[in-house]
Amino acid sequence: MLSDWLEALRVKILVKLTWGLSRERYLDSLRLFSATEADSAWQLLYAADRVDDPEQRADLLGQVLEETHHAELFKRLYNENSDRQLVPARYEREALYWDKAEMWKFFIYCYVGEEAAATRFTHIKNASTDARLNAVLASILADEVGHVHGAEEAISDLPISKEQFKSETRKIRLKRLWEAWLRTGRNLSDLASSAILSALYYPVGLAGAPIARGKTGS
Ligand SMILES: [Fe+2]
Ligand SMILES: [Fe+2]
Repeated sequence: MLSDWLEALRVKILVKLTWGLSRERYLDSLRLFSATEADSAWQLLYAADRVDDPEQRADLLGQVLEETHHAELFKRLYNENSDRQLVPARYEREALYWDKAEMWKFFIYCYVGEEAAATRFTHIKNASTDARLNAVLASILADEVGHVHGAEEAISDLPISKEQFKSETRKIRLKRLWEAWLRTGRNLSDLASSAILSALYYPVGLAGAPIARGKTGS
């Protein structure tokens, strides 16, 4: 499928080009992964409060613990690779769906999001040669595959038609794909700006060096 191919390409650009050229970008991604996992834990916790079935609530709470653990694993990896400790961003979170009548959309969002996370982490693991990152991804992936199955089960119990499922899935996938490419575009334009600035500063630095040496007498 075209969207799978685009996602594989986007991840390859991220790992080989963006992370390869900039350690800061790699750290930014780890920070973002950690924040996304923490956010999904929050969304699940919020949803657990809005479902009536105790078994479903227990499943959601179990997943909250696993997503919180994933956030912690990415945070630890960030701290191992950085001179400074990761300080989690504090912001007011917004639930994906506030209305209890719309909770069926939440389960479809989970299914799409979990499937996308499993695919993305698999692509990163395939493209990366960093043993520590790959070990973290392998451990997270073992859980994410279970989350996809959990979401599928929750959807099979929903009182919705196949058409509703298909149309909501398509809507969420398109929105997420667009947001992901916007992030990739921002990363690449930042890298391009840094490259242009370096290209400008380098000759200026070379030209300025003899003047500076003259002034300091060295
Ligand atoms: Fe996760
Ligand atoms: Fe997950």
